[in-house]
Amino acid sequence: MLDHPRSAALYRAAQNSLLGGVPMNWMKKWAGPFPIFVKSAKGAHFTDVDNRDYIDLCLGDTGAMTGHSPDVVAEAVARQARQGITLMLPTEDSLWVGEELKRRFGLPLWQFTLTATDANRFAIRIAREITQRNKILVFQYCYHGTVDESFATMHADGTVGPRRGNIGPPVNPAETTRVVEFNDLPALEAALQHNDVACILAEPAMTNVGIILPDEGYWAAAQTLARRYGSLLIVDETHTICAGPGGCTREWKLTPDILVFGKPIGSGIPGATYGCSEEVAQRISARIHLEDCDVGGIGGTLAGNALSLAAMRATLEHVLVPTAFERMIELAKRFTDGVAAEIRAANLPWNVTRLGARAEYTFTPHPPRNGSESYAASDFELERFLHLYALNRGVLLTPFHNMALMCPATTESDVDEHTKTFAAAIQELIT
Ligand SMILES: Cc1ncc(COP(=O)(O)O)c(C=O)c1O
Repeated sequence: MLDHPRSAALYRAAQNSLLGGVPMNWMKKWAGPFPIFVKSAKGAHFTDVDNRDYIDLCLGDTGAMTGHSPDVVAEAVARQARQGITLMLPTEDSLWVGEELKRRFGLPLWQFTLTATDANRFAIRIAREITQRNKILVFQYCYHGTVDESFATMHADGTVGPRRGNIGPPVNPAETTRVVEFNDLPALEAALQHNDVACILAEPAMTNVGIILPDEGYWAAAQTLARRYGSLLIVDETHTICAGPGGCTREWKLTPDILVFGKPIGSGIPGATYGCSEEVAQRISARIHLEDCDVGGIGGTLAGNALSLAAMRATLEHVLVPTAFERMIELAKRFTDGVAAEIRAANLPWNVTRLGARAEYTFTPHPPRNGSESYAASDFELERFLHLYALNRGVLLTPFHNMALMCPATTESDVDEHTKTFAAAIQELIT
């Protein structure tokens, strides 16, 4: 409080007009009695309203993986904002972005939405429509945005129900969703064998319950199973884009039927995309009629708007480029090396994992292989201690677990500062 008087005062004043004192309910989850209010952000840093500077390893939970307000994007957005923001008509940028997405991910045809949640929701609708099946399959403790079908968890007896915290589920998700553990091929096959799964909605590596990497050969086998049982594969690269310019899809040569990518695609200007295979495209056109295309539950007035597309073009052309990924990945290696050394030195039963430019520490001796293992290892109080300790020393981690992300503007000294803070926090814990 003493160090953040203006944030504390703004939070108190916000109780008068904002539900819970925050503009969006997740912002209550930051460690500490109130969230810090931001004055400005640039690159890998931001300054709060009390003029304290922070190294930002949260980066808007990936929305700002490009670094905050890259100049080239800010200029493209400013230029476009003066020339029209939204029209419900295409601009030329959409072609450039479509071609670039095709080149990066290998899927031929693309559509735009405002959020990755919407892209997932529309991809699910398409999968249901063209397969004429009603269930979707997700992995235990996945996160794909506020998609109703995905807030389902599997209980110890194998039955499915609403995930803890699920607010007002429209139906019991057992009606819409099958849930299996990641990295469990027999369970996946057993679920697909019901022949009612329209699609598997998956992150290629789980990132929202800590990082969980696929076993060697997992995706090759899982893709074969999906095809054998007539289920589509939707790969959600919204976070796993940290693996490289074409996400895990390109790195691991995956062949999804539909691919979703949002958040950093426009450097945080709202926008997301989904792309599909030629076969999916043909099956869609066979079932969707021109006269009904505006009331079919896919689309949005502001989706594909001129401003989003200008931001996406500038981001993909100049910011999230191969050389930037090379740097970011090296920095993430430095991060994991530093954290692993401190964990070893303190003899703690913890580990640190990395996926491209993203790193995460978990409170288990070995990296978890599935969502349940990772969820069981989480420790809310310990996380909050580590997050608040870092925040008070000028380092911001995501509020949800122990994730750190590198952006093109992150420096080695930013990474080392985190390692130093992490080491000091551990010392306080063990002494
Ligand atoms: C993998 C994944 N997909 C989709 C989303 C949804 O993104 P948004 O909240 O921007 O709709 C998220 C958000 O965290 C995510 O992690």
